[in-house]
Amino acid sequence: MLETSSTAAIGLHGLVKSYRDTPVIPGLDAELRGGEFTVILGPSGCGKSTLLNCIAGLERLSAGRITIGGREVQEEEPKNRRLAMVFQNYALYPHMTVAENIGYALKVAGVKKPERAARVAEAARIVELGDYLNRRPGQLSGGQRQRVAIARAVVREPQVLLYDEPLSNLDAKLRHDMRVELAGLHRRIGATSVFVTHDQVEAMTLADRIMVLNKGKIEQFDTPEAIYHRPASTFVAGFIGSPAMNLIDVTGEGGMLRFANGTALAAHPHQGPAILGIRPEQVVPSPEGVPAQVTYAEDLGAYAVLTLRLPDGTALRMTTALGARNALSGDLRVSLNAEALHLFDPLTGMALSGSDTHSRTKKVQHDHLPS
Ligand SMILES: Nc1ncnc2c1ncn2[C@@H]1O[C@H](COP(=O)(O)OP(=O)(O)O)[C@@H](O)[C@H]1O
Ligand SMILES: [Mg+2]
Repeated sequence: MLETSSTAAIGLHGLVKSYRDTPVIPGLDAELRGGEFTVILGPSGCGKSTLLNCIAGLERLSAGRITIGGREVQEEEPKNRRLAMVFQNYALYPHMTVAENIGYALKVAGVKKPERAARVAEAARIVELGDYLNRRPGQLSGGQRQRVAIARAVVREPQVLLYDEPLSNLDAKLRHDMRVELAGLHRRIGATSVFVTHDQVEAMTLADRIMVLNKGKIEQFDTPEAIYHRPASTFVAGFIGSPAMNLIDVTGEGGMLRFANGTALAAHPHQGPAILGIRPEQVVPSPEGVPAQVTYAEDLGAYAVLTLRLPDGTALRMTTALGARNALSGDLRVSLNAEALHLFDPLTGMALSGSDTHSRTKKVQHDHLPS
């Protein structure tokens, strides 16, 4: 049987990683809970792989400490950290069978044949490749090959499984199937998992908690639900959700958020300049709302994305059911769902307290907007 410890939390303490004098991770503290599926999410070049490689031991820290299961590991060799890694470019040995590929590391480590066979069979069962043990990689689909790569990691009985964009080379349909499989796999083995991706859909669907990384710093580390509904900054707000949240410069004045030209956009008690965030699905047609002109429409099958131009020239995106779309061509009026307004500080980009969906009660009526 494979033995995984589901309790190995990962502690990152004052972690600094610089290349020459350039800090890629300027100082990071976080606790990744044991047994959880943590996704590290951020744009290309923000330091995701660097952070994962630091945890794996493939990169030396410039400063700070890493604990796995309470044990300091930053001075330990990767092979002594009881973790295994799955990369985007997994190389399988083409001349070996699935079983031989999965068991290769055990063979190198001198694990005896009967134990090896049992562990390989168990790992193959976990990734649902039990019937394919005698095939060669050339006889497998892309998704099956990726599962062999995962089994090769799982067979080592790691406390921690690290994934670096393992699905990025797969086509869209297969990526979806593999997401479902990975979620199931995580439930079956229960190892602490850290999954790096730039794909917010992967993050939202796989993660227990998402660490949003921007230039080597944590913007927010929370559940997908909190990240979506209570983004801590304009960076998070703009990165999560498709189409992206609208971010609009406004000024709060007399109980209304207004454009520079004075047009009132939504009722809100905030005073002074702010960035207003509103998701496209929270912009709704309303006879009492702000006048808007449809400048662009994309039909996506289940729904349409409309780009609107507001009176001061600001562009605003909204989504609408495809059936309702024809009624919304040309000129219309829209209002913003008062419960879904987010306000951010225009200087720091950080969320202003009390501006999120959940902490505000429905005390403002948005259908009496003067325009
Ligand atoms: N070995 C290295 N030497 C110098 N700079 C590096 C090295 N590895 C990564 N970097 C730089 O560190 C930054 C973060 O890289 P990386 O962690 O690979 O980003 P991500 O995985 O988020 O795309 C990038 O600017 C990259 O150029
Ligand atoms: Mg990377």
